[in-house]
Amino acid sequence: MEGLARGSIVAVIGSGAMGAGIAQVAAASGHEVRLFDTRPDAASKAIDAIGKVFTKLVDKGRMGAAEADLARERLQAVGSLAEVKEAALVVEAIVEHLDAKRALFAELEGIVDARCILATNTSSISVTAIGAQLRHPERLVGMHFFNPVPLMALVEVVSGLATDKQVADTVYATAHAWGKDPVHAKSTPGFIVNRVARPYYAEALRLLQEGAADAPTLDAVMRDCGGFRMGPFELMDLIGHDVNFSVTQSVHAAYFGDPRFTPSVLQQELVNAGFLGRKSGRGFYRYGDDVVTPAVPTEPQAVRPHTVGISVAREVTRSVLTPMEARLTDAGLSVAHREPLAGAEKHEAPALHTNGVAIFLSDGRSATERAAANHHPNTVVYDLLFDVARATRIALARADQCSEEAWQAAVGLFQAAGFTVTRIDDVPGMIVMRTVAMLANEAADAVNQGVCSAGAVDIAMQKGVNYPRGPLAWADSVGIGHIVTVLANLAATYGEDRYRVSPLLRRKLAANPSGARFHA
Ligand code: NAI
Repeated sequence: MEGLARGSIVAVIGSGAMGAGIAQVAAASGHEVRLFDTRPDAASKAIDAIGKVFTKLVDKGRMGAAEADLARERLQAVGSLAEVKEAALVVEAIVEHLDAKRALFAELEGIVDARCILATNTSSISVTAIGAQLRHPERLVGMHFFNPVPLMALVEVVSGLATDKQVADTVYATAHAWGKDPVHAKSTPGFIVNRVARPYYAEALRLLQEGAADAPTLDAVMRDCGGFRMGPFELMDLIGHDVNFSVTQSVHAAYFGDPRFTPSVLQQELVNAGFLGRKSGRGFYRYGDDVVTPAVPTEPQAVRPHTVGISVAREVTRSVLTPMEARLTDAGLSVAHREPLAGAEKHEAPALHTNGVAIFLSDGRSATERAAANHHPNTVVYDLLFDVARATRIALARADQCSEEAWQAAVGLFQAAGFTVTRIDDVPGMIVMRTVAMLANEAADAVNQGVCSAGAVDIAMQKGVNYPRGPLAWADSVGIGHIVTVLANLAATYGEDRYRVSPLLRRKLAANPSGARFHA
């Protein structure tokens, strides 16, 4: 499928942050652009600003001077909608109100040619609903860009119930030609990214509420252990709690109150207080010149053990344990392999053991619960690491029954392997493991419900919100079986439908218990 012809006219309606970004990208990709805004002068001011961006890109050597001049000349502000008559594609980026969008498209239908594609950049309104009153709803499609448009590669191409497949395919090919990474999605609440990302914020808020750690510690663990570019609290502060809370509320309402999407009272209180994040000078963090960056607690230096035993329990994935073993060996520890204990089904074999402490990768139970189940009080659990070989930090939780001596042995072991050790309270599923399991669960459900493909959801989360790995590729690497175990344990502990396991995860696992994967 071909995209729009280079040189064809693209109209952009609304010249705010998003519309201006879309106009910039379309012009730089060779289209004649008509930019319209109801605010007088807004479109021409936006074009002046885009011209300055082009100049900066030329100064930085990222765009040729002649190319920049041509791109700038392709941008034209228009004073009436009638002037978008010749457009092959109209992209709408006006206010996020259904009635305003419907009215705009109804008017556009009377102006543009029958072959013109109508696209909406809505992030939260049903594409089906926007198109419902059109004479030709089949030519309306979602073209959902991410902010800032010139920098974010993702475009969700969203099909409503009536959208023609060819229209969606043309917009997909066009986005691709514009240097973007498009994905197809069905019009469902939150589309892909705003749905699948919900647990990233929600689990963090729940962990904070349960006292797992404070916000700076949770952020540090998500960055240093989980490989995320920004921790959830600093990210929510950046997005703005009013915006983030309202997206969660709208997705929750749109799914008729599904507990998977339940908003957080903690975040509601921030909104009530007007602590909206960076923009108001205070959110989870304070902002300003004299603010000190909060310190992340780390364990003091413990005694270095000499030996460590490794035994692979049924549920511990080798992809996690093998690089950990390499890291311990490289640190000069003597590593002994041990057979899992007899009856390991009941009393699981510890993954790592040193000086009497059993150390497991989190499986969704607390260390305390695991210690009780195994009749082994000296139990410590560790959180999932994105890159075991390179991680600088590891998060540990200690069973309530664990002795100080045993705890110190676990701390000393990971310190010997070069980790900064951060202790968090003994909450089920820890931080990264719980978040990744929930992200993978939501991603799997989106695929299961035909919203998008497994490939699309992974691209979307990497390109739309900069996750270090797609959630389903992550499930592959940890092991789908382990993810299911984590979720099932969380469901058992909390007794909440929120943690119900996606049928697709269970199906994949049942079909291939030892080698289930989403990606080849
Ligand atoms: P904005 O408020 O910066 O810009 C909207 C512009 O549209 C304003 O300049 C306004 O004067 C103009 N406008 C309003 N009604 C109009 C009409 N009937 N005809 C022509 N122009 C009209 O908003 P922003 O942030 O650029 O968002 C625009 C759209 O993009 C919204 O639907 C939003 O949901 C969506 N979106 C926003 C994202 C973001 O991060 N800001 C991300 C993805 C989508």
